[in-house]
Amino acid sequence: MNIKTFSSNDFQSAAKFCRMNMEYDSLPDFLFKEKTFDDPDYDPEMTLLAEEDDEIIGFMMGVARTIKTGKCGYIKLMAVKPEKRRQGVASQLYNIIHAKFVKIGCERERIYESHPNYLMPGIDPRYTEAICFVERKEFKKFNDTSNLLCDLTNQTFSTMKEEEILSKQDIIVKRAEKSDEKQTLNFIKEDFDIWIPEVTQAFKNNPISIHICNYKDKVVGFSAYDTNNLNTGWFGPMGTSPTMRGKNIGGILLKRCLADQKKQGHQFAIIPWVGPIPFYMHYCGSKVQRVFWRYEKILE
Ligand SMILES: CC(C)(COP(=O)(O)OP(=O)(O)OC[C@H]1O[C@@H](n2cnc3c(N)ncnc32)[C@H](O)[C@@H]1OP(=O)(O)O)[C@@H](O)C(=O)NCCC(=O)NCCS
Repeated sequence: MNIKTFSSNDFQSAAKFCRMNMEYDSLPDFLFKEKTFDDPDYDPEMTLLAEEDDEIIGFMMGVARTIKTGKCGYIKLMAVKPEKRRQGVASQLYNIIHAKFVKIGCERERIYESHPNYLMPGIDPRYTEAICFVERKEFKKFNDTSNLLCDLTNQTFSTMKEEEILSKQDIIVKRAEKSDEKQTLNFIKEDFDIWIPEVTQAFKNNPISIHICNYKDKVVGFSAYDTNNLNTGWFGPMGTSPTMRGKNIGGILLKRCLADQKKQGHQFAIIPWVGPIPFYMHYCGSKVQRVFWRYEKILE
């Protein structure tokens, strides 16, 4: 077996390999590119291919990010060809990436949930071999989360009447414009600073994929889409200022994004890594689509 670092020459074959060997996920080329080359922390030294006779038999990608608690290394994608499993392929790839994480001073490692650019917020336990693998590598399950699925085909998302009611209280909901970016980001910094990368991405999209709520000309809420896993119907993040909750602002903001996503031609929106399941169930009837187990290993 030969292990080499990933390069643009391997793009097509590696994308196809991941598609073939991660049965619960769909990874079109555009998404594989977003997850690899377009990751702000992409490091070819931590993106590895295992080959035999010039054929890929394993792929593993690591990224390191600085989060609030310090540096964290993520195993972001991994797959081994079924006939080559249980022969130590993933272990060899992991050992190389793990050594790099240690060398650059990562304090912890996590699996898949490499926010803000991630495919899944943890391991879908139907990938049971992956659960066995990470537990063998001494990762501990510390939480779980889920993605919701919202059917866009059987509902309309008109918010005109609700917005009229709010406007009488000086509460205005609108699609954000470029000129709103600075004020919106200032608001996000106060209450939701973890989402700065997503909101920045939403302002780069064309059209801008974020709606905001102003109260007395100050931003007090937002909802965004197409900020990760772009063009797949990915909703979020969203948030309302704690002082303004309970006024239907969140509901309107949510529906405005879902209306956009429907208009884009999506039949479903994915509401990832939730969060307040009853809120989404109430406003758009979304249901749990996938469950993810979150794993962590603290490095000494
Ligand atoms: C998860 C995956 C990458 C593991 O690759 P692999 O090359 O088979 O892993 P290794 O051979 O290095 O396994 C190392 C250890 O993990 C554990 N393990 C791996 N697969 C296992 C299985 N099917 N049953 C029990 N334990 C398993 C074992 O402890 C194993 O060591 P051992 O064989 O000495 O007992 C592979 O099963 C795979 O591609 N699965 C589908 C894609 C996937 O799940 N991707 C992750 C999505 S979240």
